[in-house]
Amino acid sequence: MTRRAVVTATGRYLPEREVPNSWFSDELGLETSDAWIQSRTGVQTRRFVDREAGEATASMATEAARRCLASAGLTGADVDGILVATVTPDHFFPSTACLVQDALGAKGAYGWDTSAACSGFLFTLAQAAAMVRSGMARRLLVIGADTMSSIIDFEDRATCVIFGDGAGCFLVEGSDEPADGELLDFVMHTDGAGGDSLKMVAGGSRHPTTAQTVAANLHVVHQDGRTVFKHAVGRMGDVVTELLERNGLSSDDVKLAIPHQANLRIIQSIAKRQGWSMDRIAVTIDRWANTTAATLPTTLDWAVEEGRLERGDLVVFATFGAGFTWGAALMRW
Ligand code: UT7
Repeated sequence: MTRRAVVTATGRYLPEREVPNSWFSDELGLETSDAWIQSRTGVQTRRFVDREAGEATASMATEAARRCLASAGLTGADVDGILVATVTPDHFFPSTACLVQDALGAKGAYGWDTSAACSGFLFTLAQAAAMVRSGMARRLLVIGADTMSSIIDFEDRATCVIFGDGAGCFLVEGSDEPADGELLDFVMHTDGAGGDSLKMVAGGSRHPTTAQTVAANLHVVHQDGRTVFKHAVGRMGDVVTELLERNGLSSDDVKLAIPHQANLRIIQSIAKRQGWSMDRIAVTIDRWANTTAATLPTTLDWAVEEGRLERGDLVVFATFGAGFTWGAALMRW
């Protein structure tokens, strides 16, 4: 008997605080404009946490998980494990997963964090799928959550305008029968040679935090936008083709594509290459910007709410991020 991995519920949390493009010029005094940001990235607005109110990655992750569990009629006590993808954990340790486990009262659950930047959710979902398929786990919460506002350089106008904060969650369960929401396949890649193009240098063991690392501005995201853009277009396009080919599918078979949301121009180029009209792509970059590991689960959750999927539809996820890391996943809704 083949055990299958199925997504049985989803949930998301976006902070209340909405920050429109005009905030960067009007409040921060950056030489930028709503017109530039919209035309070059597709972002209109984003959400940032309210740190004074205690919001951070774990609190967003917990709320997304609560909403996901509530929609399944379950509580934290019902899950075996909590896997959190993030590059902005509340702390290096304890892990964000441990904070979420405690906040949910998920007494019987283990948990850990994974780090694969924008690809973090897809990679962690693959890990969860393998765990439930093998019988190692019965029911897992898979969360993508990032507080990018905690690590962006608000003086770097090319980088700071593309990010937002948020959290999304999938409940992944094992099933012995074919079931809705089945995770059918994953393709994952990394190329560490691309690491220099998108990085946060200090705060780890190589460059522990010192007054000098702070003065040198090494605790924020540094991105070579043009290089990352070029790789994102090529590699996300390639990995979607690789996923479809090895499953004997054509792009016409896909009802909805959920690509990573870093730049609307990247999304449009992937759509063009696959021959997908934009109504077959879920786009949330306009309202939430690039929420790193939260992007794929928040976008799927939103697309479902919008009625964009019917039972049996094939969904393709695609992602690209720091590392470089990239991948694609196939799901039957
Ligand atoms: O999620 C992880 C993966 N990340 C990505 O996939 C991001 C990929 N990269 C991008 O999306 C784009 O490269 C950015 C949105 C980050 C930047 O857009 P770009 O069109 O590549 O801009 P650029 O850095 O090539 O700069 C073009 C011009 C420059 O001016 P000059 O030198 O031509 O006079 C910049 O200084 O645009 C200028 N510029 C801006 N102008 C107004 C850069 N940022 C801004 C800004 N407002 N915010």
